[in-house]
Amino acid sequence: MAISFCLPLLAGSEVVSKDIPLYKQPGVPIDMRVADLLSRMTLEEKVLQLSQYIVGLNTNVNNTGEVNTGLPDGVGSYIYFSEDATLRNTLQRKAVENTRLGIPILFGFDVIHGFRTIYPIPLAQGCSWNSELVRELSAIAARESRMSGTDWTFSPMIDVARDGRWGRVAEGYGEDPYTNAVMGVAAVKGYQGDTLSSKVNVAACLKHFAGYGRSEGGRDYSFTDVSRQSLWETYLPPYEACVKAGAATVMSAFNDISGTPATANHYLLTEVLKNFWHYQGFVVSDWNAVQQLIPQGIAANRKEAARKAFSAGLDMDMKDDCFREHLAVLVAEGKIDEEKIDESVARVLRLKFQLGLFEHPYTPVYEEDKRILRTEDKEMAARMAQESMVLLKNNNSLLPLKKGMTMAVIGPMAKDKENLLGSWKAHGRTEDVESIYEGLEKEFGYHTRMFYAKGCDFDGSDTSSFAEALSVASQADVVILCLGEKAAWSGENASRSTIALPCIQEQLAAELYKTGTPVVILLSNGRPLELARLVQQCDAMLEIWQPGIAGGTPLAQILSGKANPSGKLCITFPFDSGQIPIYYNERQSSRPDQGKYQDIPTIPMYDFGYGLSYTTFSYGTMRASSNSIQKNGKVRVEVPVTNIGNMDGYETVHWFVSDPYCTISRPQKELKYFEKRFLKKGETTLFTFDIDPKKDFSYIDETGNYFLEEGDYYVIVKDQKIKIEIK
Ligand code: NOJ
Repeated sequence: MAISFCLPLLAGSEVVSKDIPLYKQPGVPIDMRVADLLSRMTLEEKVLQLSQYIVGLNTNVNNTGEVNTGLPDGVGSYIYFSEDATLRNTLQRKAVENTRLGIPILFGFDVIHGFRTIYPIPLAQGCSWNSELVRELSAIAARESRMSGTDWTFSPMIDVARDGRWGRVAEGYGEDPYTNAVMGVAAVKGYQGDTLSSKVNVAACLKHFAGYGRSEGGRDYSFTDVSRQSLWETYLPPYEACVKAGAATVMSAFNDISGTPATANHYLLTEVLKNFWHYQGFVVSDWNAVQQLIPQGIAANRKEAARKAFSAGLDMDMKDDCFREHLAVLVAEGKIDEEKIDESVARVLRLKFQLGLFEHPYTPVYEEDKRILRTEDKEMAARMAQESMVLLKNNNSLLPLKKGMTMAVIGPMAKDKENLLGSWKAHGRTEDVESIYEGLEKEFGYHTRMFYAKGCDFDGSDTSSFAEALSVASQADVVILCLGEKAAWSGENASRSTIALPCIQEQLAAELYKTGTPVVILLSNGRPLELARLVQQCDAMLEIWQPGIAGGTPLAQILSGKANPSGKLCITFPFDSGQIPIYYNERQSSRPDQGKYQDIPTIPMYDFGYGLSYTTFSYGTMRASSNSIQKNGKVRVEVPVTNIGNMDGYETVHWFVSDPYCTISRPQKELKYFEKRFLKKGETTLFTFDIDPKKDFSYIDETGNYFLEEGDYYVIVKDQKIKIEIK
């Protein structure tokens, strides 16, 4: 990276007072300001820029408590747990006014699905198939964050995850690389907007680079065995897309990938990210991940850990202070080149300039009503909640409910608020949340008699409240049974050996179903669930995920028929936890008709893309503009879709491709495009997919290069496929 500059180049830019250092002049191009500032810095000052600490107590239960103390006034970055900008400004003032060069601090925080306006978890967002809404909500999160003193969010998580036992499956967009790429890009665009210097945008951070989602047995932080082929084909595409979209930073992952932890992985951090993709942003480690190279078995001590991580391409050390302790000494010993330190510091400084921190280091302290929970933002959160909910079962069209049905609202989730927020709730508060019961009351209360009984707790074996639940069920026309997971059961460090709900909840469902009153189950959870038993104890089932603060009314509107459910799964729901991993894009077996489980079905309970509607969409014949094209040709494929039911609604069309014969074996099918549209009843619309063979038919090999071979390919929509020959 070139970090030198010369004055003549300044012609045309808004310069230049010789008395003011270049780096303090906003009109000077950023790279020159960076170079000027670097030329004035001591090695110690540089290393400080590569170090991140925490202020206040983390809201993440896995990483609380250890507040860094005794730090110099100017550090590279803080993780900022405060809810408004007051503390930031105090700390920032110390850095800007008490240090020699006045370099502002970068304040980061985990704003994963909202800052205070908490919207559905990313896994739910994936099921909305509405990337524009993902962008808009990310922009809301950015606005609340930046106006509260946070410049940088550690989001989006774009780890492809295929094991529901892994709690972090909640934090990404499911099992498919393309979906993660599209939603990740939308989030980056929402967070960063057109320019980082705007006072409502924040820098994004792509995490966790890479392969973290491949956890073994669903255990968090554990070793992952990822072949180069899987790395390139499955885990890296979302990163490549988001890097191209301009994501400001990347976080290295905790996991050891096939023998080299991600945080010390030269191949990933330098060869792929910085050299192959020409990435200009910086890489921050995950929390304590540098020192964790010791238990991971590749560093004898913190000094060696610092050397290995930095030499691999890590730019900033989160929390564990290994860089500040050791980098300068390592330079003095000739083990690390100061030029390399300069490159990393330049990356960090560049972002600070881009964010405008040198010109505007402080955040105005806004009134709460200007800063958070604006009405229009809550409406947007509600819209996402509604679009992400997936109708899994609807026997005899029980839903939407007939007007006037008396309702027994039962279950541990019915009046719960805390758990609807999900994991990583940032500054979300229980008091902001509309519960399921409140939503139902709002929608049905004025004309419907509602009974309530908790029935049981989330887990345990206490059945003493069953009797009350059965009694209210017998007085009602329909049972709304609200089940699910506590927020802490998914997210970081929240693995489960089975993805079924605890027995007590299944037992309650079974007892209620026996009463003969129709049962609608609402599920709120942060992972795919094993539903084989529950699905038999109900007439209808709606997956509402962890919808955040505004889930009550959206789900009630689905039950009443005011809204038509449109979510579709972005992750497969296995029939049984023993099927894991199971995902739509696996490769073909050598004996497709054999190799089945002897004791359980081999197919999943609900496929990727599954989701019911109150209306029916009929697909006409798929057609291609040509069935044979050159490698550099283009082809348009289209399918007419008609809403032949009795209700307006959204339909998402998923376009897959398959290549049955190739130099390397390929997934049975791969999602390449999707589109969601609103169709009035009776309306027909033409969905189209413009295929660029180089992008859509080619395969990526284990070196990250794309190859397009001649031969036959299939484009697949629902149960239709069409052959296209590449010549
Ligand atoms: C650990 C988590 O793995 C990561 O996702 C998060 O951003 C950091 N801690 C900071 O809280």
